[in-house]
Amino acid sequence: MKAIRVYEYGNADVLRLEDVADPVAGAGEVLIDVASAGVNPIDWKILSGAMKAFIPLPLPFTPGVEVAGTVIALGQGVTEFKIGDEVFGFINIVGGYATKAVAAVSKLAIKPKALSVLQTGAVPAAALTAWQALTEHAGVQRRQKVLIHAAAGGVGSMAVQIAKYLGAEVYATASAHNHAYLKGLGADYLIDYTTQAFEEQVSEVDVVLDLVGGDTQTRSFKVLKRNGVLVSPVSQPNMSLANDYGVTPANFATRSDGRQLSLIAELFDKGHLTVDVEAYALSDAKAAIEKSQGRHLRGRLVLDATQ
Ligand SMILES: NC(=O)c1ccc[n+]([C@@H]2O[C@H](COP(=O)([O-])OP(=O)(O)OC[C@H]3O[C@@H](n4cnc5c(N)ncnc54)[C@H](OP(=O)(O)O)[C@@H]3O)[C@@H](O)[C@H]2O)c1
Repeated sequence: MKAIRVYEYGNADVLRLEDVADPVAGAGEVLIDVASAGVNPIDWKILSGAMKAFIPLPLPFTPGVEVAGTVIALGQGVTEFKIGDEVFGFINIVGGYATKAVAAVSKLAIKPKALSVLQTGAVPAAALTAWQALTEHAGVQRRQKVLIHAAAGGVGSMAVQIAKYLGAEVYATASAHNHAYLKGLGADYLIDYTTQAFEEQVSEVDVVLDLVGGDTQTRSFKVLKRNGVLVSPVSQPNMSLANDYGVTPANFATRSDGRQLSLIAELFDKGHLTVDVEAYALSDAKAAIEKSQGRHLRGRLVLDATQ
């Protein structure tokens, strides 16, 4: 098979496309003929070496946390899927940028019928992150006010739609050129964070989903109601500010969860969710990583592993 491999930490220049042996599905795993692999910020954070203290990886490794494709072999004891099933999943911390990948069945679901397999590779990590943030960590209820930072990106665009599905009133920060896109996804109020201070535009919010961190996260305390929730997969909110403002802080790492992905697939098939995808060839992973590092994407980038 073909795979992108990393022999040393660094920038996107260290990515190499190579021929390597196919992985083998172990007990409880399947082998997937990958059609599409999502490109996530975690990929270039790992690539840079910034995370090697928490996530030690033997070199060389293949980046990529999520894929969509077709099951082509079953490991021992697998009954949940059969050969030929089109599946998708947040498979691991690495391994996705390849023409084949193995994954535990517990991390996979049947792909939504409403999406092409290429689009589907963009979904698992972003949709699981948005779903877990809004339902498990923030407990969003109907008619609550939810502010989503970086709403036009991979996680943000899912979060806007999931918050609307949950019945919330959605405030979203994004550059002006993304406002029409976000209105189309259901956002109620748009704030151009490049020209407006969001804390002057919105107040008494029940939930902030922070997908930016830093100063944006710190300033978010001011817009929350007492007993509101500040949830961030980017970094741990400041505990002493959380105490001062009477806010519940939540920081989390996204959990891989095939059952939750089945529910998410249903939301796509019922028309509650859509995804905006820009595709690069697998051999063009360097360009895709560099574009992701620019931090001004709409929706998600994917690598087309069939090219
Ligand atoms: N801990 C975990 O398990 C976990 C899981 C998933 C994601 N994350 C983290 O969550 C963050 C978001 O992920 P993502 O995949 O959604 O990123 P992404 O797709 O790269 O986000 C891009 C978006 O960020 C927006 N943006 C950049 N700076 C902004 C600012 N100051 N205010 C508002 N919007 C801003 C851009 O909007 P404009 O183009 O409109 O300017 C763009 O649409 C990343 O840091 C990622 O690593 C963590």
